[in-house]
Amino acid sequence: FIEAVIFDLDGVITDTAEYHYLAWKQLAEELGLPFDRQFNEKLKGVGRMDSLELILQQGNKSYTIEEKISLANRKNDHYKQLIQKITPNDLLPGILPLLKELKTNGVKIALASASKNAFTVIDKLQVGEYFDTIVDAGKIVKGKPDPEIFMVAAEQLKVPVQNCVGIEDAEAGIRAIKEANMFAVGVGNEDSMHQADLIVKDTNELTLERLRENFK
Ligand code: G6P
Ligand code: MG
Repeated sequence: FIEAVIFDLDGVITDTAEYHYLAWKQLAEELGLPFDRQFNEKLKGVGRMDSLELILQQGNKSYTIEEKISLANRKNDHYKQLIQKITPNDLLPGILPLLKELKTNGVKIALASASKNAFTVIDKLQVGEYFDTIVDAGKIVKGKPDPEIFMVAAEQLKVPVQNCVGIEDAEAGIRAIKEANMFAVGVGNEDSMHQADLIVKDTNELTLERLRENFK
């Protein structure tokens, strides 16, 4: 039975996946590197420095560590600018009702986001009270698709992995959930969710009933 639901943040709870895209696009343009939505799919769920590496590989210039850090900071400055304006109205459809439904049914709730801006975003959305634990991305050694962040979330909740559901919008995230031996729910485009156990087109479709019907 479902004892816990572990949420990804960007693209699941709120549409910050779009802000990450815009911020990376701005940086890529400043560097004269190609960047489009299709390429961006590869970056979803992937940490800041790893994402930067993938973008820089599009060109043939090499950068020192210091330069890379400063480029990553520049992207983060663009991103921080964009998330300033987040309010509770930016919760994706169906997410607040789902959080409430999970709470009233005694299902534990965790956040497993690779973003170092996750606490800020959750704060702005004013949903911190719903989460029994928020994994600190700064303490995670291996990023998605490694299962570490989902395993740590389950450990912190004290729930066995086979009773956990993970919800993701990115291929790397779905792979991480499956590697953690959890039930994987994908939100969005089927093409990037091959391994998901359940795929929904829209966050509106995420109800406890729907999860329970499909959980195995
Ligand atoms: C999430 C997002 C990625 C982002 C990563 C790091 O996984 O899906 O797009 O690169 O977090 O976010 P940060 O805010 O720490 O740069
Ligand atoms: Mg995501």
